[in-house]
Amino acid sequence: MSSSFCCVEHHFINSFFPPLSSLIPMIPSGIMKPPRGKLPLPIIIITTCVLVFVAILYAERLSFLSSNSIFKFKPCPRQITKPKSNEEKAGDRKADKEKAGDKKADEDVVIVNASSSWIDDRFDFDPEECNVANGKWVFNSSVTPLYSDISCPYIDRQFSCVKNGRNDSDYRHWEWQPEDCTLPRFNPELALRKLQGKRLLFVGDSLQRNQWESFVCLLVLFVSVLSQAYNATIEFYWAPYLVESNSDIDIIDIRKRIIKVDAIAERAKNWTGVDILVFNTYVWWMSGIRIKTIWGSFANGQEGYEEFDTPIAYKLALKTWANWIDSTINPNKTRVFFTTMSPTHTRSQDWGNMEGVKCFNETKPVMKKKHWGTGSDKRIMSVVSKVVKEMKVPVTFINITQLSEYRIDGHSSVYTETGGKLLTEEERANPENADCIHWCLPGVPDTWNQILLAML
Ligand SMILES: *[C@@H]1O[C@H](CO)[C@@H](O)[C@H](O)[C@H]1NC(C)=O
Ligand SMILES: *[C@@H]1O[C@H](CO)[C@@H](O)[C@H](O)[C@H]1NC(C)=O
Ligand SMILES: *[C@@H]1O[C@H](CO)[C@@H](O)[C@H](O)[C@H]1NC(C)=O
Ligand SMILES: *[C@@H]1O[C@H](CO)[C@@H](O)[C@H](O)[C@H]1NC(C)=O
Ligand SMILES: *[C@@H]1O[C@H](CO)[C@@H](O)[C@H](O)[C@H]1NC(C)=O
Ligand SMILES: *[C@@H]1O[C@H](CO)[C@@H](O)[C@H](O)[C@H]1NC(C)=O
Ligand SMILES: *[C@@H]1O[C@H](CO)[C@@H](O)[C@H](O)[C@H]1NC(C)=O
Ligand SMILES: *[C@@H]1O[C@H](CO)[C@@H](O)[C@H](O)[C@H]1NC(C)=O
Repeated sequence: MSSSFCCVEHHFINSFFPPLSSLIPMIPSGIMKPPRGKLPLPIIIITTCVLVFVAILYAERLSFLSSNSIFKFKPCPRQITKPKSNEEKAGDRKADKEKAGDKKADEDVVIVNASSSWIDDRFDFDPEECNVANGKWVFNSSVTPLYSDISCPYIDRQFSCVKNGRNDSDYRHWEWQPEDCTLPRFNPELALRKLQGKRLLFVGDSLQRNQWESFVCLLVLFVSVLSQAYNATIEFYWAPYLVESNSDIDIIDIRKRIIKVDAIAERAKNWTGVDILVFNTYVWWMSGIRIKTIWGSFANGQEGYEEFDTPIAYKLALKTWANWIDSTINPNKTRVFFTTMSPTHTRSQDWGNMEGVKCFNETKPVMKKKHWGTGSDKRIMSVVSKVVKEMKVPVTFINITQLSEYRIDGHSSVYTETGGKLLTEEERANPENADCIHWCLPGVPDTWNQILLAML
């Protein structure tokens, strides 16, 4: 962080990862750019902000969640990364339910056997034409992720499921197939070409960090074998509500949290000059209680807050964000994306597992088509749609909600840590400890990035 490359700052600069200077040696020299100024510029500059904070806040949130069933969170599916084959051949995606699922074709989204064949008439991916939310997960055991939590040094312990003891592997072999088109597999070389000389910045909460780490890891192994240098910067900025709140800096009891719904400009200065911006904000709003909001100056004292229902407070904040984008961003220079809600899977009844506890022990995606649980708030989705529709600057959705809803098997579950400590064997046996909000890496967020890349 001490390096001049760090563009992402926080009032609480804490880096979970080693500072950039110590990070450089970890990056194979193949990815180094020729020295420019004092320091060699790595191809991928990974800027992490506040990860320590994130981890703590996050843990707090989890314990809050587990002690409150008001929450509606659900787990999502896991995704699969594939080898960087070029465009998929038509042959790639034969299989699926048309043939395999004659009886249940309308019901099942997931086809377990991908080796049968049928004629594929889906067209190539076109973001305008193809609805990525409409599709199914196809199991393909020959699909393997581009990285592992051992080969990629940038994954938080929280998401490092294999390292943390998860030994079932099916969740890493599912491939998302939109109904109308073929979604190209993540091609790291193509990604680097598209990002050459550019800055990509993820802004948001810990799910956004999940996605950002996935993106970095999808590139990292490829980058290490590259002789050619790419100058691409992939950063993360911690802003769980996008707008400011008193919880950004310190851990604040959820009941004392106050969101400053009109305050964004100060931190947003750090989001300018970026070529590709990817935002999200959701899970922090879902505390199940009314949201304390304040506008104007905190100097009036925090007692001056007003409480709103979540969708209303969310809308105020999102409008602040939208106004900032419209007044600041030049759409000819910067592309803006918004990742929709990442579903949480904390209510197993949602997918018919009456005896289950949260997403604990789930190893298969939900098969029921259009499954939608209580962890994805439709009111929030509709606020997002409405606000974005009124914006001048075009914002592209990475609509991950539906596809992730199926993936109850993809969460970190008990293969995680809390308060910086790995769960013990005993703690792991307790389903209540399952994290059904975040996702294992490799996993579902790889698919989100597959979609992002296809849209770039
Ligand atoms: C944003 O950048 C400004 C400098 O432009 C810096 O002073 C400030 O601390 C940064 N704020 C945050 C929250 O990162
Ligand atoms: C499964 O993945 C392999 C390896 O990428 C690919 O060759 C094959 O076509 C895939 N099968 C289906 C049905 O998608
Ligand atoms: C998948 O289908 C192929 C051919 O239809 C069959 O040979 C194979 O046994 C099936 N595999 C599984 C796991 O059902
Ligand atoms: C996987 O882990 C579970 C408990 O975490 C254990 O009961 C099981 O034996 C393990 N399976 C393998 C194949 O190691
Ligand atoms: C790398 O890209 C950044 C913009 O992302 C640019 O400011 C910088 O000059 C580039 N460096 C080189 C050596 O091309
Ligand atoms: C973006 O480009 C278009 C066409 O090149 C131009 O008409 C428009 O004024 C530009 N917008 C901005 C904000 O620069
Ligand atoms: C997890 O699921 C497997 C089968 O799906 C079952 O045999 C096992 O008992 C379950 N473990 C727990 C702790 O519920
Ligand atoms: C995302 O997809 C879901 C499911 O198809 C849909 O209901 C929702 O409106 C979409 N959200 C946005 C913002 O387009």
